[in-house]
Amino acid sequence: MINDLYADNDAFGEKERFSLHVPDFLEERLNAFDDAVKVFRTGKPVVVGSDPGNDAIMLQSNDYLNLSRHPDISKALIEKLEQSVREPVMSAVFLHEGSDKDLFEIRMARFTGFESAVLCQSGWSANVGLIQAIANEKTPVYIDFFTHMSLWEGVKVSGSPFHIFMHNDAGHLEKLVSQHGRGIILVDSLYSTTGDIAPLADIIDIANRHDCVSVVDESHSLGTHGPKGAGLVASLGLTQKVHFITASLAKAFAGRAGIILCSKRFAGYFPYTAFPAIFSSAVLPHEIAGLSATLDMIIDGDERRKRLHAKAAFLRSGLTELGYALASESQIISLEPGIELHMERLRDVLEDRNVFGSVFCAPATPKNRSLMRFSLHSELSMEDLGRVIDICGSIREEVGMWEWKSTKRKHTASGRP
Ligand SMILES: Cc1ncc(COP(=O)(O)O)c(C=O)c1O
Repeated sequence: MINDLYADNDAFGEKERFSLHVPDFLEERLNAFDDAVKVFRTGKPVVVGSDPGNDAIMLQSNDYLNLSRHPDISKALIEKLEQSVREPVMSAVFLHEGSDKDLFEIRMARFTGFESAVLCQSGWSANVGLIQAIANEKTPVYIDFFTHMSLWEGVKVSGSPFHIFMHNDAGHLEKLVSQHGRGIILVDSLYSTTGDIAPLADIIDIANRHDCVSVVDESHSLGTHGPKGAGLVASLGLTQKVHFITASLAKAFAGRAGIILCSKRFAGYFPYTAFPAIFSSAVLPHEIAGLSATLDMIIDGDERRKRLHAKAAFLRSGLTELGYALASESQIISLEPGIELHMERLRDVLEDRNVFGSVFCAPATPKNRSLMRFSLHSELSMEDLGRVIDICGSIREEVGMWEWKSTKRKHTASGRP
């Protein structure tokens, strides 16, 4: 039916619309995808569940402080759109000093305690651009196994030799750095799949003792953690000891952009050396106005942060008591059915009861380590969270929770049956 829409837009007649034959190497890849999704009940990728109704309990968004629909932010966006005389629809390399981008960067640097900041089009382009700009074939890179894919992509683009350290294992990191020499250390502060937190004090200490460059991706902690939301590095008093913080501004900032917090010298270098900065167009002024209004709300957001952390603690403890094996220490709380068919079952059973989380599977997790991620926000009702706990309690047998590998690992480790 969707195909019948927009008939007036057709520049060609129906008969002229066609699909060009593709060579075998592409056909094989398309077939492999079709085969992989065929195993699921709906014939669609397992990440796509049913369409939530208006009364669904939604635990999918990364808008942790529930700011995306705030009227002050919409107002700032609209006012700027109406005022903007010259929209710079071009790369940021052509912008002049004093641009909206410059002013927002100054605000973000002051907010986090860094000398400078660089606004990027997304968290993805911030990370890929940064690694490309600081690493090359001669620079060893040390990367936590669970670090976000955008940092891995940066490593790939830079061509650096890389060494993977075991998740959150500072001892393993130090061993690798001692073996291979100084280089660049890449971690997330708060891991987007499992919601656990990096041992930042230990990792930054290793970075400094071994004369390494440190990069911390704070996408899931900027705005939600630390003084006025300045992040986990700030909350641990490590700001002066870290070279770079990166973040997606599509989480607590609820916009579409990314940021790199850095030195003044680096901020002058990055826009003219990182390919995503040179060869992709700049964030638009009204988007920056929206982000700036969001920053005001984040700075004033202590109550929202308090509510978020209290609600996350409530859900974590309820699920833990039910026997679910959680790694979470934050507002990201994931159940781990592991095998994808078990995940499909869990997704369907939860969605039938009106609870909607996000499915994470390969390539976002290792194969057969799929997760159901619940992302919380500060304004969820305690009643809804209580319902989620009750539902998760009542479905344990139905979804085979006691048989999941994650459950067995936890209960073996804690000595329970
Ligand atoms: C830890 C982390 N870094 C970077 C990104 C990329 O951010 P964006 O969506 O702004 O490109 C994400 C988004 O999924 C993320 O979770």
